[in-house]
Amino acid sequence: MQKIAIYPGSFDPVTNGHIDIIKRSIKVFDKVIVAILNNSAKEFLFTIEERIKMLEESLNGFSNIEVNKFGGLLVDYAKTQKADTIVRGMRAVSDFEYEFQLALMNRKLNKDIQTVFFMPGLRWIFTSSSIIKEAARLGGDIEGMVPPGVNKKLKEKFGFV
Ligand code: PNS
Repeated sequence: MQKIAIYPGSFDPVTNGHIDIIKRSIKVFDKVIVAILNNSAKEFLFTIEERIKMLEESLNGFSNIEVNKFGGLLVDYAKTQKADTIVRGMRAVSDFEYEFQLALMNRKLNKDIQTVFFMPGLRWIFTSSSIIKEAARLGGDIEGMVPPGVNKKLKEKFGFV
């Protein structure tokens, strides 16, 4: 039986830290579904279509990875995809409390779905979509922190091209 994992997130936008986690998780699972949160109550910089496209382009050439969007409860979506594992990245200690809450709530909602954490490479420990967006918005150089296509999209979004 195929071991399928869901890697959920906002991916607004995808960073090299996310790509690092995807690369690590595909070594452990037969298939990884990157599930992008589509929630109209939350404000995103990029539309769901833009976030999907950026991820698909960044993952071009990788096999056994699927990019999808989801709404509603993550555990319900995981069930529809026959995935019994949720993958999350854990960077510094500051991530711990939120991730702990999320994992325990998901376990409460569906005890058959387990959450596992991967640590990104050290060079990605201090990067996040939010801090990268902030730097990009102010014209900072974020090359090497995001895939090249994402860098271009951020420059366009903030009027630097
Ligand atoms: O990258 P993020 O924004 O930290 O990802 C958060 C995400 C998408 C994993 C989380 O918000 C989520 O799973 N949302 C869907 C609703 C849900 O199931 N929430 C958890 C239990 S209430």
